[in-house]
Amino acid sequence: MSLARRGSEIFSKAAKKSVETRGRFSVAISGGSTPRDMHGMLGKEPFRSNILWENTDIFWVDERCVPENDPTNNYGAAKKDFLDRVPVSKAQIYPMPIDVSPERGAVLYHQELTNFFKSKEDEFPSFDLIFLGIGTDGHTASLFPGQIALKEKQKWVVVVKGGNPNVSRLTMTYPLLNRAKRIVFIASGREKARILKAVLENTESRLPACMIVPLTGEIIWLLDQEAASLLSRETVDEVV
Ligand code: 6PG
Repeated sequence: MSLARRGSEIFSKAAKKSVETRGRFSVAISGGSTPRDMHGMLGKEPFRSNILWENTDIFWVDERCVPENDPTNNYGAAKKDFLDRVPVSKAQIYPMPIDVSPERGAVLYHQELTNFFKSKEDEFPSFDLIFLGIGTDGHTASLFPGQIALKEKQKWVVVVKGGNPNVSRLTMTYPLLNRAKRIVFIASGREKARILKAVLENTESRLPACMIVPLTGEIIWLLDQEAASLLSRETVDEVV
């Protein structure tokens, strides 16, 4: 089974469980290249029909502050890959604002999350599912090594600058990400093997991806054979 298929199945099952429990399904997705095959699959049968799209609300863990039609804009890519092909209304899709200053965008997205989750002042919302990727430097979302954003304890969304492309970005922070009910990392390819070994097998590692530790939720690492190629057998739950 491919990563894309396995990720799509997790998406579908999480949606079904959340809707059965709460009537809604809130998911936050990542950008970059790895999730694009999965996003493409979500927009095709059987997932186009069997996911409860009318009950699904879609957010982003991060966004590059570039125009929507810029090929590196995460929302723009997801729109092409599946959002334009599945029965979700614009009201169910929450792109991070990139048409205002990054600082203003972070405040607006925090307000959007507060309104959506009807969160109280000091209460962090809990997503039903969050998909994360990992960079070869161990970053996840747009939480890059050595950046002050890694220390953020209060804000839900902050502005950073970095990555490839090296632009201003909005990113969710650990306090928000770590409250998810389920976090799924997706990684593929040999170029991720070294960083995955550092993150998953070096208990001393303080790489950004190591700080994703759900408070009460579950974490799943969805890796293909190449990405998992340096991991010891006991580390790996499932390789696809
Ligand atoms: C982003 C992503 C980022 C991504 C990693 C891996 O917007 O850049 O959220 O965290 O998941 O950089 O990217 P690839 O999948 O392209 O290797």
